[in-house]
Amino acid sequence: MHSGNIIFQNNMRFLQKRSLILKNSEINILSQTITKMLYGIFAKLQQSPSIYLKCMNLGYLGDTDLILKEADKAEKLQFQLYHHITKTVDFIDKKVLEVGCGTGGGVYFMHTYLQPQKIVGLDLIKGNLSLAKSRYPSEKIRFVQGDACDFHFPNEQFDIVVNLESSHCYPNMLGFLTCVSKVLKEDGLFAFADIRRAECVAELEKQFLDTGFVIIHQENITQNVADALVKDNERKKQLLNQNWLGKRFYQNFAVMKGSDMYEAFQDGSCQYMHYFLQKTPTTHPN
Ligand SMILES: C[S@@+](CC[C@H](N)C(=O)[O-])C[C@H]1O[C@@H](n2cnc3c(N)ncnc32)[C@H](O)[C@@H]1O
Repeated sequence: MHSGNIIFQNNMRFLQKRSLILKNSEINILSQTITKMLYGIFAKLQQSPSIYLKCMNLGYLGDTDLILKEADKAEKLQFQLYHHITKTVDFIDKKVLEVGCGTGGGVYFMHTYLQPQKIVGLDLIKGNLSLAKSRYPSEKIRFVQGDACDFHFPNEQFDIVVNLESSHCYPNMLGFLTCVSKVLKEDGLFAFADIRRAECVAELEKQFLDTGFVIIHQENITQNVADALVKDNERKKQLLNQNWLGKRFYQNFAVMKGSDMYEAFQDGSCQYMHYFLQKTPTTHPN
């Protein structure tokens, strides 16, 4: 068999395991090598104009007062998820960091609609960042490559840190939370949302508390995300039909209606959790 085919088939197996990884609840099993490979391929696919996506999250369906520009309406559900986790905070003139920014859609959203003073997007994948840089050039925006579990900015740089649907890939959640707390100013805010096995939610909350965060708001948004998946199914199908390689690669990754992850949301074994946190003054002085 052609070696390209073997690599392709192995890739497919890794992809199919994305949901198994979460089933095992050992998020660490998703090694950084696999993360790099999956998101590297995805970044390459996105270079094709037929798979142009600003965001990479599953979306949110629910009551919302979000009014989007015409060009952003195709990814309304994905922007609604960003909106939902950021809407209670005033971003105007704030310094913001998004960890796991993907191809920069969330950074674009916050820059355009929330008007921070400056915003930095950090991601592990070079391909994501190249796309982000070319799509969203602005003096107020900076994209940097880095590992969420071990990134460095001067201490107490940011007013707000955002982390959306990325932490399930991290091999060291405590390392990530420690980095967030170091770069946040005293009383800085942290908007977080991601998927966890139901039995791991308590552990996640303990990790927040152990790294010195106070939970200001906690919300299970699984149903809103599952509703978004149903609503978005047709758009995703059409996108996939436009690109053969994308179709084979993306159908598991996209978590469409009927996928393992969708079923896990339905039966309650996986939850999509949103937390709004604040750094306590005593957290990690150095
Ligand atoms: C599902 S995407 C979400 C992207 C973006 N937040 C959005 O909603 O569009 C997850 C992102 O996390 C990034 N990621 C995974 N592991 C990472 C790590 N260790 N450090 C930084 N980024 C990471 C991936 O490269 C990918 O861009």
